[in-house]
Amino acid sequence: MEPVTKQTQLNTADVFELIGHDLMRVEEEFIRQGESGIEPVAEIARYLQAGGGKRLRPALHLLAAKYCGYEGLSAVKLGAVLELVHTATLIHDDIIDGATLRRGRASTNRRWGNAMSVLAGDWLYMQAFHIALAEHNFRILDILLVLTQTMVEGELIQLTKLGRLDVTEEEALDLSYRKTACLFSICMQLGALLGGKGHKEETQLAAYGLNTGLAFQVIDDLLDFVASPQRLGKPVMSDLREGKVTLPLVYALQMTGARGRRKVERVLRERGFRSVQPEEIIALVKQTGAEERTRAKAASLAAQACHQLESLPDSIYKRALEVFPQFILSRDF
Ligand code: IPE
Ligand code: IPE
Ligand code: MG
Ligand code: MG
Repeated sequence: MEPVTKQTQLNTADVFELIGHDLMRVEEEFIRQGESGIEPVAEIARYLQAGGGKRLRPALHLLAAKYCGYEGLSAVKLGAVLELVHTATLIHDDIIDGATLRRGRASTNRRWGNAMSVLAGDWLYMQAFHIALAEHNFRILDILLVLTQTMVEGELIQLTKLGRLDVTEEEALDLSYRKTACLFSICMQLGALLGGKGHKEETQLAAYGLNTGLAFQVIDDLLDFVASPQRLGKPVMSDLREGKVTLPLVYALQMTGARGRRKVERVLRERGFRSVQPEEIIALVKQTGAEERTRAKAASLAAQACHQLESLPDSIYKRALEVFPQFILSRDF
């Protein structure tokens, strides 16, 4: 592989090489912060850490901090904070969704039950705030508090829409913002903040994160229809079974006739694939062009993310940020 300092187009491996060392430090911090005097919490934290995960949020945060010239320890600490918040949301999300598989293993709720899992999630949230507090910076705390509320609102709004067929593109994207893109945006914003960048750069980098996060959730919603569960590490065809009409289905419903609509309605009503088979819904998403349209939407969001970087100075980290959305578009896990 060519040295990553050259003016070459980077690939995903280069990006992880650039920040690999710091990502390992984030991992160590994450492990340390997951240690609790209460064994069930420590056990759950270890289980989730060992289960892997792509670590995209700390990766984005480290890239942003480095791009802004920051090299200190706080980026590692906040990287762990962001991964802890993400982990806590996954635990709560799996309880709410009644999911049984996460990162290729039994979900926390499956293994420890809902009561234990909800409390472990709460503990991890608080631990994240505990580390963040050590930064002695009210802005960081404020950003994280608003983020947490926005994510909780996302899950709440989603509950109010369960079973509804009339979800619009705008509503689906608003949910994606709350559930996912807000966190991606904050990963970037906190990096810029550590680098002491002004309002303009902070806003541009946050907008990059937001669009990257939207693209990420849009692809996640598509993967629920088209991915292999072994590769994805979580069940597929679960959103509709759980009563969620996500963007690929919003597009499919716009294009299909009464028969197609009735099939979707039946799955929503039966909360499962009883009289309709999963393959029929997958065919609907593919044959109506909804898969292509969803991919095009994600590609357009990724392009909007990169557009935010155009007026910013060039560097190896900027080029890393430019390739990041490509990984998101082509991912199958
Ligand atoms: C899963 O996020 C939750 C969503 C926002 C769709 P990731 O796919 O980043 O989860 P891990 O951390 O890699 O398992
Ligand atoms: C992810 O939403 C949002 C979170 C805040 C965890 P999903 O419900 O799509 O996530 P997965 O598909 O379970 O990972
Ligand atoms: Mg879920
Ligand atoms: Mg999903």
